[in-house]
Amino acid sequence: MDIKVRKMLGEDREAIRSILLRTEVFNQDEIDCAMELIDIYLNNPSQKDYLLASAINGNNEVVGYVCYGKAPLTHGAYDLYWIAVEPEYQREGVGRILLNYVESEITKLSARMLLAETSSRAVYEKTRRFYIKNGFSEEARVKDFYSTGDDKVIYKKIFP
Ligand SMILES: CC(C)(COP(=O)(O)OP(=O)(O)OC[C@H]1O[C@@H](n2cnc3c(N)ncnc32)[C@H](O)[C@@H]1OP(=O)(O)O)[C@@H](O)C(=O)NCCC(=O)NCCS
Repeated sequence: MDIKVRKMLGEDREAIRSILLRTEVFNQDEIDCAMELIDIYLNNPSQKDYLLASAINGNNEVVGYVCYGKAPLTHGAYDLYWIAVEPEYQREGVGRILLNYVESEITKLSARMLLAETSSRAVYEKTRRFYIKNGFSEEARVKDFYSTGDDKVIYKKIFP
């Protein structure tokens, strides 16, 4: 598949909102939070906390996006805040291509590690498998973090 990753543009915004809705894993509060970070990035070109990129197919359509940034007050620890792929394009390597882009960008910035947090709920099983498949390992788990029975699982990938 012909997928390219480039920095997010304002014209990608509505396509990304639609992807967030159609993945069917995010509730409205989560979508609002994801959109807030998108708007911070698009409206404040000088900020460096949130970095966003879009995956584009051969027809110039947005099929996924990623949001990442340096964890404040750390030396080289980065957070993967959001990653989402259009459902029709999932399991075809788009997530891996987005992650490879993030890793290549942050290693240029002397990143030592990348952390990704997710929920222990069954709906995130494919997400947890995605992280493990891409070289992350479970670093910590905060029991009942999101709600009773819904743990926060923190995955970590180290860069040599
Ligand atoms: C997690 C996500 C970004 C992965 O993107 P993707 O393009 O499907 O991933 P890739 O094609 O690069 O990787 C495929 C691997 O991911 C996992 N995976 C993805 N979809 C899966 C599914 N439906 N069932 C089981 N595993 C799945 C598997 O490990 C799979 O490898 P395999 O096919 O060899 O079993 C995508 O599934 C998604 O958008 N999920 C919803 C949003 C989300 O949970 N985001 C993370 C929290 S912010």
